[in-house]
Amino acid sequence: MPENLSPVELAKYVAAERASRMVEDGMKVGLGTGSTAAWLVKCLGERVRRENLRFTSVPTSTRTANLAREAGIRVVTLEEARWLDLTIDGADEFDPDFTLIKGGGGAHLQEKIVATASDRMVVITDASKRVERLGAFPLPLEVITFGWQVTKVLVEELLSGLGYRDASVTMRMNADAAFVTDEGNRILDLHLGEIHRPRELSMVLNQIPGVVENGLFIDICDTVVVGHQDGSVLVEDAVAPAARGEEPAQDTDDSDNIFRDTSL
Ligand code: A5P
Repeated sequence: MPENLSPVELAKYVAAERASRMVEDGMKVGLGTGSTAAWLVKCLGERVRRENLRFTSVPTSTRTANLAREAGIRVVTLEEARWLDLTIDGADEFDPDFTLIKGGGGAHLQEKIVATASDRMVVITDASKRVERLGAFPLPLEVITFGWQVTKVLVEELLSGLGYRDASVTMRMNADAAFVTDEGNRILDLHLGEIHRPRELSMVLNQIPGVVENGLFIDICDTVVVGHQDGSVLVEDAVAPAARGEEPAQDTDDSDNIFRDTSL
């Protein structure tokens, strides 16, 4: 274990280290982006060196691809890999249904494509990312550069129509310039406070011309590996609402009405 980690970094490290042991010889593995995923890449590099672990990775960003190559991990494109056994990635928030907000690092487009092309998605996170209701973390929205101001206005009007009266939308910046994604797009951050019907919100946002993808991951994550600041780790598998004795989330079976029902 690396020395002198802050409590938060220790929590991220132990989650990443635990998930790195889920990778087996011969697997094709999606590698996420962010500070927790960076620990994962380090841990997997250690396994490649010490155990001669042989697996193929598909990174979800240029940053992660560079880290993986430096760690001695074989990197291919998703086109080459076609389908993956496992994706391991961080998250900005996760709720009791394991619905996620991702994209704090601006990589959620590739992350969603890679995770969706995987038999299993495992999220690695420290305990602070667990929430009862998503939305305190601003929801990232990747939009194309052409006409982004118009797209932003359409997003604001949509949010107002959905009842998000105090919402604001900001352009992601990188120092003094607009943040640019690996695909050359921009990111709008949606400050919502609380997201009441993530499934509805995800679908209607993606209908707006100029929107490429939002940062809500719904029915994608199978397992969450939660690291704690005392160095302990909890591995939790997704449980269907019915198995928890609950009704399905309100917007899961209301798809006919999502474009008409504009109240929260
Ligand atoms: C990258 O775009 C994000 O989806 C990250 O996975 C997310 O922001 C978690 O990052 P950290 O592990 O750095 O908190």
